[in-house]
Amino acid sequence: MTCKQKHTLVAEELSVGYQDRIVIEDLNLTVSPGEITAIVGANACGKSTLLRSLSRLLRPRSGLVLLDGTAVHKIPAKRLAQQLGLLPQSPIAPEGITVSDLVGRGRHPHQRVLSRWRAEDDEAVADALEATDTVELAERPVDELSGGQRQRVWIAMALAQRTGILLLDEPTTFLDVNHQVEVLDLLTDLNRALQTTIVMVLHDLNLAARYSDRLIAMVDGQIHAEGDPAEVLTAETVGRVFGLTSKIITDPVSGRPLMLPVGRHGASPDGPA
Ligand SMILES: Nc1ncnc2c1ncn2[C@@H]1O[C@H](COP(=O)(O)OP(=O)(O)O)[C@@H](O)[C@H]1O
Ligand SMILES: [Mg+2]
Repeated sequence: MTCKQKHTLVAEELSVGYQDRIVIEDLNLTVSPGEITAIVGANACGKSTLLRSLSRLLRPRSGLVLLDGTAVHKIPAKRLAQQLGLLPQSPIAPEGITVSDLVGRGRHPHQRVLSRWRAEDDEAVADALEATDTVELAERPVDELSGGQRQRVWIAMALAQRTGILLLDEPTTFLDVNHQVEVLDLLTDLNRALQTTIVMVLHDLNLAARYSDRLIAMVDGQIHAEGDPAEVLTAETVGRVFGLTSKIITDPVSGRPLMLPVGRHGASPDGPA
C-alpha cells in the first residue's frame, strides 16, 4: 500500500505569473503534513495558479516550492509524481480512452521502462474505481460520460496514483450534492487511513469549512487568512474575499461555521426568525 510517510510541502516567497502579469506575489505557505487544507477565494484570485506551482506545472518567477526540502523543479518528473498527485481544474482525456485505461495512467509513475503491469497496479485501479463508484463505467469511453461521472473518473485516476500528497483543483465541480459529499468523505477516509496530505480548492465555502483541518482564504494572489476553519470563516473574511454580506452560524450537523449569504433579496422582510 501507499507509504504513510508524511511529506513537507512549502512555498517560500513564491511569485508566479503568465507572460507579463504577476498573479501570485511573495506568497508563503506551509502545507500541514497529514492534514486536509482547503483553499477558497473569488474567481481568478490565483487558486489554480497556486496549485499548479505547488505541483511544478508552473515555474516560479521567484521564490521556491520545496518538497521535503528540495525544490520541486529539481525533482525528476516521475519521482515527483510518485509523491505528489495533481487533479487539475479542467483535465483533458486522450480521445477515445476508456475509463479503466485512464485510471490506469495513474500507475505510470510507479512503472519502470518496459516493466509489465503488476498485480499491485490492478489492485490500485480496482480500489480507485470502487472508491469512486465508477466500477460500472470501467469499459466506457471517457468522452461519453456525463460531467459528474467524468469528474469521479479523474478522481479515481488521482487515487490510483497513491501519492502521499494529493492536490485537487475543485474536485467537486459538476457533482450533484450527494456525490460532492461522497467525494469529500472519500478524501477524508484517505486522509485518516493513510495520512494522505490533501490540498483542495473548493468553491463551496461551507463544504470547505466542514471538510478541512485548515482553511486558506485567498485574495488577489495573496493569502488573506489561514487557520482553523472556525477562525477563518467569519463575516469579515467573506466580505473581504467575496465582497458579500453574510451571516455565520454554527452548522448544526458538523459544529463547523456555516455561511449564509444575505444578498439584496435574500433576507426576510419581517426580519430574522
Ligand atoms: N494560462 C494562462 N495564461 C494567462 N493568464 C492566465 C492563465 N491561467 C490563468 N491566468 C490568469 O491568472 C489569474 C488567476 O487565475 P487562476 O489561478 O486560474 O484563478 P482561480 O483558480 O482562483 O479562479 C486570472 O486573472 C487568469 O486570467
Ligand atoms: Mg481555478
